[in-house]
Formats: sequence, C-alpha cells, structure tokens
Amino acid sequence: MIRLERVCYRYEGSGAAVEDLSFEINRGEFAALLGENGAGKSTVAKLIDGLVKPASGTVTVAGLDTRKTKTSELAKRVGFLFQNPDRQICKNTVREELAFGLELRGLDRAAIDERVERTLRDFGFDGERGPFTLSRGERQRLALASIIAAEPEIMILDEPTTGLDYRECMRVMEAVKGLNENGATVLMICHDMEVVLDFARRALVLSKGRLIADGAARRIFRSACAMEKASLSPPQITQLSLRLGAGFEEADTVGELAEAIVKRRRAV
Ligand SMILES: Nc1ncnc2c1ncn2[C@@H]1O[C@H](COP(=O)(O)OP(=O)(O)OP(=O)(O)O)[C@@H](O)[C@H]1O
Ligand SMILES: [Mg+2]
Repeated sequence: MIRLERVCYRYEGSGAAVEDLSFEINRGEFAALLGENGAGKSTVAKLIDGLVKPASGTVTVAGLDTRKTKTSELAKRVGFLFQNPDRQICKNTVREELAFGLELRGLDRAAIDERVERTLRDFGFDGERGPFTLSRGERQRLALASIIAAEPEIMILDEPTTGLDYRECMRVMEAVKGLNENGATVLMICHDMEVVLDFARRALVLSKGRLIADGAARRIFRSACAMEKASLSPPQITQLSLRLGAGFEEADTVGELAEAIVKRRRAV
C-alpha cells in the first residue's frame, strides 16, 4: 500500500532530512512513526503525500509512483492531516468546510450533501457554526472529519493529538480508529507514547533521517537502544514493568500490570 525504497531527500541548503529509507506498510495497518525532533517524520509524511518527491529512490502509494503521479491524483487516495488544523480550514461554516474537500474531489452534489450530513451526524457538529469559533480540539476534529468524509484509502496524520486535552485526544483518536476499522491504512506521527500504545499496532522509529527500528509497538518500547537513540520514553506502565523485570514482560497497561502482580503473588 505504501512502499519506500532507498529513499533520500534533502531540503535546499540543509543536510539530508531522509537517508536511504526503506519500509513497507500494508493495507489496513495502523502504524506509528516515531522519532526525535527533526528526525524526518514530517518529511516522510510529505513524501507519501507527494508534496515532496524523493531525490533518489522510489515512493509508491496505492501502486502509484509519487514522482510520476500528480499530487491531485494522490490526494484522492491519501488523506493528510497537518500538524496545525488551521492550515487546513478555510471556509466560513462547518458545513461548507466539510463540503469543500469533497467538491475538490469532484463528487456530484447529491453525494456531497449525503456525506456532509452523515459526517455532521457522526461527529456531532453543528453545520452552521463558524470553524474558528470552535476550540482547538474541535477544529482538529473538523479537519479530520473533512478528510474522513472523503473516505481516503490511506490516512497520514502528523501529530493529530498535540495540544489537545485528554477528552479531545480520545475523540480524535476514536475517529481515526473507526476509519482504520473500516479498512483504511493509517500512518500516524505521534510524540505521545500512551496514544501509540493504545491505538497503533506497529511502530517505526526514525533517527536522523534513518529507520532504526520497526516492529510491534510494544516490542519497540522495550528496546532501550532504539528508544534512547530517538530520545523517546516508553509509556509509564511499560517503564514501571521494565523496572520490575522478570514476570512483567507483557505488562504495558494497568490491567496487564495488575494481572502480572496477582500472578506473581500467587507464585510466592
Ligand atoms: N522547509 C525546510 N527547509 C529546510 N530544512 C527543513 C525544512 N523542513 C524540515 N527541514 C529539516 O529537515 C529535517 C527533518 O525535518 P522534519 O520536519 O521532517 O522532522 P520531524 O521529525 O517532523 O520533526 P518534529 O518532531 O520537530 O516535527 C530537520 O533537520 C529539519 O530542520
Ligand atoms: Mg514534524
């Protein structure tokens, strides 16, 4: 579904942002892209979205080589949530905002109206509200809703939960989860390891433009070498169970930790 083969990219006047990067993400996966500030995560997102083209190597998205495909063509397949939702919002009402993305995709009026009304219902939005009267978390959900309304096959999210409170974060993530459960492939850039643990199954770790780890998110969290190299800390329960050592290897959530403690007490 998404394939990078030996991809290199550098911005004019700066060092390599992405170097010799290869990975593949299959249809229906929910993967997280992790790494320190400046590791190259947003650059990878832009490479997949076709906003930047590889200097060398190949990026293939839904079977299309991004270098040979128009960005507008890729945009029909890939939904891209920017780090800042306000870069995406441009209309005066929530309803117009939701319709806009669909108009760009060339849907007919009846289909647009049907999807807009469905999305308003699903997300519980008031269609007449002005987008900029919404809270930051709600604007993030609106940006996400207008992408989901277009039913993309692939969804790239650049830090979808940064700046949101817990409730807003969960509402945004539940929407992403729903999209993934309906078959969309999700790649999410995220600095919050608790969110990664709760929602992503796979984690790819970038450091200085290179892939340094790739596998089950829970396994990656326990790889001290990769985590330190990318300046990341595991989720809190994982940190605790790492300190507790033998018998706690599978405990990454409160429930699993409690279970491991009970097991241990029975064994004593
Ligand atoms: N428009 C640009 N012009 C020049 N250099 C850039 C540009 N955008 C990013 N870079 C550089 O490319 C490298 C990778 O940046 P990128 O934004 O992909 O990192 P990131 O992992 O998304 O970081 P963050 O966690 O801070 O968002 C960094 O060294 C950054 O300074
Ligand atoms: Mg970034």
